[in-house]
Amino acid sequence: MYSEQFQKSLALVEAAREKNLAMEPERMTAEQKEQVLSAVHPDYREDQFEALKIGPNAGDRVPHELADMLQAHSRITADSVDLSKPDYDIDVLIIGGGGAGTAAAIEAHRAGASVMIVTKLRMGDANTMMAEGGIQAADKPNDSPAIHFVDAFGGGHFAAKRELLAKLVCDAPEAIAWLSDLGVEFDKDEDGTMITTHGGGTSRKRMHAAKDYSGAEIMRTLRDEVLNLGIPVVDFTSAIELILDDRGNAAGAVLMNMETKDLLVARAKTVIIATGGAGRMHYQGFPTSNHYGATADGLVLGYRAGAKLLYAETLQYHPTGVAYPSQIFGALVTEKVRSLGAKLVNKNGEVFMHPLETRDVTAASVIRECNERGNGVETGNGEGIWLDTPMIEMIGGEGTIEKRIPAMMRMFAKYGIDIRREPILIYPTLHYQNGGLDINVNGETTNVKNLFVAGEAVGGIHGKNRLMGNSLLDIIVFGRNAGVHAAEAAKETEPGALTLDHVAAFEKEIADAGIETTAVSPKLLPNYTKQPNI
Ligand code: FUM
Repeated sequence: MYSEQFQKSLALVEAAREKNLAMEPERMTAEQKEQVLSAVHPDYREDQFEALKIGPNAGDRVPHELADMLQAHSRITADSVDLSKPDYDIDVLIIGGGGAGTAAAIEAHRAGASVMIVTKLRMGDANTMMAEGGIQAADKPNDSPAIHFVDAFGGGHFAAKRELLAKLVCDAPEAIAWLSDLGVEFDKDEDGTMITTHGGGTSRKRMHAAKDYSGAEIMRTLRDEVLNLGIPVVDFTSAIELILDDRGNAAGAVLMNMETKDLLVARAKTVIIATGGAGRMHYQGFPTSNHYGATADGLVLGYRAGAKLLYAETLQYHPTGVAYPSQIFGALVTEKVRSLGAKLVNKNGEVFMHPLETRDVTAASVIRECNERGNGVETGNGEGIWLDTPMIEMIGGEGTIEKRIPAMMRMFAKYGIDIRREPILIYPTLHYQNGGLDINVNGETTNVKNLFVAGEAVGGIHGKNRLMGNSLLDIIVFGRNAGVHAAEAAKETEPGALTLDHVAAFEKEIADAGIETTAVSPKLLPNYTKQPNI
């Protein structure tokens, strides 16, 4: 139930619903897309970026907030940690307990390695758990990995590393089968056929889902398997610095107990960074759909140890974050709402775009509709656009919303909004880090041996914009892949003497570059406390 301030616009949306439902909005041309992106997409706002002064990507532009973390001081000094008596000694150390980390752990364990997961919160407290809409895989007769590749390559502005994207799409059907075998309950027809839908930028229906809590269902299953296999998990403990050996190869990490702040040393033959995304960096002041721990830690750890970043300047703003009510401002409204037929409608009741353009184009078009064209609805938190959810039941019949997107229905019902009868207000929210650490097809960083990366901390799989459902896919494909290859590499590795010399070298780089900062990194957790005088 919306208050008085929304009623005038709501009446226009309701009056136009039948007509809007019947219309088929045109797709944008390549020129129109380029125009709206360069005009208003946050990635194109030059004043929000700066060139890095130090490290492997010196000269490359990244958001100010990330530059501050990449060029910050370590939480330790190189000589303050005793590396001579490690607290843990394992083959494969996995930093991060989300989807990618747990998938990696399962495969590394199956390959015979001794494995340990360390996670700053708890296993499963991660963006995977919050993923809603689904996971792409070309496993229907009218589809193929080649078509999936073309969709994703175009959607990512032809910038994806081809060998990584090829692996993603070719391994996708097997990833679905692997998850099903582990126990993931995907949505199926009565005859057992997987139900699949479109996402933005897909030319085939290949989105597999578990209602609109796909990530929670996948995470539940992976977590169970890790526990069943008896893989050790050290929770509430963060990695604050990688350890290298005297040949410059990854050889473990310095860990910090989040409660006591005690430091621990983990020696490992190989290390997998699976720390997830960066929504809690709140780039450009955006709200986020991300988990509390999404603070770009893996990028910082890898960068300080010499690993290169790829496309760290590109972020994904999900077009449909909650714009109202304020209690859930920025939370994700899954793209599946649009896959099921809801259209984007401005304050005058006009459909202004096709609802399933790629994410960056849709987000930019929503921003333009509000900020440039003055067609947004004032929400109290800025402006928003209507997402006309009652259309879903008009298309699919009564009960479709409860059956297919029950989490959305519940989220809004808590605030008195019945999305079966009333539209909802959305605005872009910071959702995904397209860029990250540069890896080869085995998941190993291109310039630090024995350092592997999986999940959202990787850059290059999706190019400069990711399609819906390719992230749950990449955590499985590249998580498993990193686990297999890290276990294999561990068999051939005997780490040399452990060292933190790179930490001292990085401090010198900071000083030599004249960077004046009191910041320390990795950030680990966001700080929402009010500062004095703010
Ligand atoms: O809209 C969504 O459900 C998000 C999916 C994704 O980021 O892949």
